[in-house]
Amino acid sequence: MLDQQISELASQAEARIAAARSAQELEPVRVEVLGRKGVLAQISKEMGKLAPEERARVGKLLNAAKQALEEALEAGKKRFEESALRDQLDAEWVDVTLPAPGPRPGSLHPVSQMQMEIEDLFVSLGFMVLDGPEVETEYHNFDALNIPPEHPARDAQDTFWLTGGHLLRTHTSPVQVRGMERFQPPLRMIAPGRVFRNESVDASHDHTFYQIEGMMIDRDVSVAHLLYFMKTLLSEVFRREVTVRLRPGFFPFVEPGFELDIQCLICGGTGCPVCKQSGWVELLPCGLVNPNVLRISGIDPEKWNGFAFGLGLTRLVMMRYGIDDIRLLQSGDLRFLEQF
Ligand code: DAH
Repeated sequence: MLDQQISELASQAEARIAAARSAQELEPVRVEVLGRKGVLAQISKEMGKLAPEERARVGKLLNAAKQALEEALEAGKKRFEESALRDQLDAEWVDVTLPAPGPRPGSLHPVSQMQMEIEDLFVSLGFMVLDGPEVETEYHNFDALNIPPEHPARDAQDTFWLTGGHLLRTHTSPVQVRGMERFQPPLRMIAPGRVFRNESVDASHDHTFYQIEGMMIDRDVSVAHLLYFMKTLLSEVFRREVTVRLRPGFFPFVEPGFELDIQCLICGGTGCPVCKQSGWVELLPCGLVNPNVLRISGIDPEKWNGFAFGLGLTRLVMMRYGIDDIRLLQSGDLRFLEQF
């Protein structure tokens, strides 16, 4: 009678264990069957009524069933633990061989890129690349360029004055003077750099921008030489035909002086904010070096002469990429910079 009850119980419990779908579903089976008040505990109480030899035999059966169920529960639990681990591993799987999303690559500022291109061009034409200070002396920025105090040309370049005869250079032309002080003619040099003007900022004016100064001093330099280098420069930079015009222009450090304009590449000459609706952009003021400028720096104008130019590098970059607001260039805005 008890034999049958035990074996039925055992097979029922085993079936429930096998059917369980989670570790939680095993727990009630354990409590109901093996627990202190479980069915097996009940049966073992009833065993007290049996004859001693019968009690020993049923006791053995009972223990065997108990042990078998404990093992089955243990195995079930283990099965669920293993599959939970497998599920977790599947969910958290990472392909460590995939390339990591590396740091965002930087790039050179468009002004730097253009500057380097122009440097390469002029180096290939036998020019040196010189550097000069951004904090300049009044002498190098003005006097030595044939712009004495009280000369109206000083007003044309609104200046950030510093103390002690110093200023923020308003153009790269002072590097001409420094070049002539350091080297003897014949001399070919360019000087790229940052310049500063104390003027109000709008789409085409910034207080800080870039120029490239150029100077060649040799014997019998003419306007033809000047034009040759300027045309080479522009066709190299734009890699296409650009329309240019030459106007007389006044700069105290050249005589004759010219304004070399190019037709606005942003609007094609119809007028826009960059060309101030004129269709033309002043890009390349230039001329033959004024003999006074040579003399001031100790070069004999009877023996030597030369040409000079002051390229608006920032403007050139705006023309090339169709940038219609100069303020973008110094903004540090990554949405702008990442396009170059
Ligand atoms: N330094 C002048 C400026 O910034 C530009 C310039 C004009 C430079 C004529 C030159 C030159 O070398 O010949 O306004």
